[in-house]
Amino acid sequence: MTPFHVRDGALWADDVALAEIADAVGTPFYCYSQTAIEQAYRAFADAFARYPALGDPLICYSVKANGALAVVAALATQGAGADVVSEGELRRALAAGVPARKIVFSGVGKTAREMAYALDVGIHQFNVESEPELEALSEVAAARGVKAPVAIRVNPDVAPDTHAKIATGGGETKFGVAWGRARQVYARAAALPGIAVVGIDVHIGSQIVALGAFEAAFAKVAELARALHADGHAIDRLDLGGGLGIAYEGGAMPPDVRHYAAIVERTVGALGCELIFEPGRALVGAAGALVARVVYVKRGEDRTFVILDAAMNDLIRPTLYDAHHEIVPVRAPAAGAILAPVDVVGPVCETGDVFALERPMPPLAAGDLVAILSAGAYGAAMASNYNSRPLAAEVMVIGDRFAVVRPRQTYEAILAGETVPDWHAAIPAIRKATG
Ligand code: LLP
Repeated sequence: MTPFHVRDGALWADDVALAEIADAVGTPFYCYSQTAIEQAYRAFADAFARYPALGDPLICYSVKANGALAVVAALATQGAGADVVSEGELRRALAAGVPARKIVFSGVGKTAREMAYALDVGIHQFNVESEPELEALSEVAAARGVKAPVAIRVNPDVAPDTHAKIATGGGETKFGVAWGRARQVYARAAALPGIAVVGIDVHIGSQIVALGAFEAAFAKVAELARALHADGHAIDRLDLGGGLGIAYEGGAMPPDVRHYAAIVERTVGALGCELIFEPGRALVGAAGALVARVVYVKRGEDRTFVILDAAMNDLIRPTLYDAHHEIVPVRAPAAGAILAPVDVVGPVCETGDVFALERPMPPLAAGDLVAILSAGAYGAAMASNYNSRPLAAEVMVIGDRFAVVRPRQTYEAILAGETVPDWHAAIPAIRKATG
C-alpha cells in the first residue's frame, strides 16, 4: 500500500516525482500521500464491516502519530474521529474538522483546565487512567452541572512483543488501572457525582505485529465487561486502543487488519457494545517519507558516512527505538550497481544522529536525494528544533498534484517570542545579532 514507487528511473509519490517536489520546496521535507491515507482508513473500516455483530465501530485516529491538519482533515473526511492526549491535540482535531462527538481524550495526566475545555466542547468520552484523575474530572464536571462520559483504562498485564519504550500493557508501566483493582475503581467511579461510567478502555502498546497479545488482552476485557455488568455498571462501549503495527523492513508483510478484526469479533463480538479503536501508525505510517539530500560522503578509515541534510531532530525513531526505516535513492541506481555498507547520518552533533548503520546502499554522491520510507507516523510529529534546525516542510500529494501543507519553518520563526532579560549587559549586541 506504499505510494512510493519507481517510475522512469526515479522515485515518485503517487503521480508526482519526488525530485520535482524537492526542486520546489527544498530539502528536507516530509511527503504524504492522501490516497494512501484514505486507503489505509478504508482497509481498517472495511475489515470490521465484514462482521455485522461488531456494528459500525468509531475509528478515532490517534492524532499523536501525525497531527498535520491536512492529515487529520483527510481522515475526518473519511469519517474518522480522533484520539487526543492533550488540549493541543484536541484543538488540532477540531480545527481539522473532526466533530467533538467523535473525539476521545486519553492520557495519564489530564489537567483540570484540559478537562474543562473538553467538557465544554462536548467530546465523546474521557479515557481515565487513575482514581485521582476520576476525582478531579468529577469535580470539574460537577462544577459545570454535567456528568463526564468515562471509560476507565485498565491495564490487562499483557506485554506485547514490541520495543520496551512503546509497550504499555505490562503491569509495571504507568498506564491504566491495575487489573486486580478494576472493579473497585469502577465502584468508586459510579459513586462520583460528575462521572457517568460508559465503558472500558485498553491500549497495550504500539507497533504490534504478533497479534496474539491483542487476543489475550481483549479476552480479558470481555471477561471484565461481564463482571462489571454483573456489578450493575452500564458498560456500553469498549475502546480497544491502537497499536496495530506496520512493516518497516523492505519485503516484510504488514500484519493483516482482517486478522485483527477477526480477533476482535472472537473476543468481544458477543457483548453487543459500541466499539472504538485508536489506530495511529496503521493509518499514516506507510503513507509518508522523509526526503533529504546528501550533503557529503565522508570516507573514514573503515566506514563510509553518507551525511544528509535531515537529522534526528526531523526523525528520531532510529536513535530512540533502534527503528529500521528503508532508505532509497530518489534517482534509481544504475542496473547492476554494487551495494556497499554505509552509515547514513545527519549533521547533528551526537553519535546517535543516525538513520542507518552499515546499511548496504548503492553508490551515493553529494547532491543526491534519498527517501526515508515509512515515516508518516511519529516522524514530523516528534520533530524538534534541536541544534536550532528549522522544522522540515510537509507536503501532501494527491494524484498528480501536491500542496505544501506546512512550509519549512523560518529562522525568524525559531527566534520569535524569545527575549533576553533586560538586565543582561550585552543586550544591545544580542538584539542586533538576532535582528
Ligand atoms: N491510543 C493510545 C492510548 C496510545 O498511547 C497510542 C500510542 C495510540 C492509541 C496509537 O498507537 P498506534 O496505533 O500508532 O500504535 N513514538 C513511538 C510510538 C508511540 C506510541 C504512543 N502511543 C514510535 O515512533 O514508534
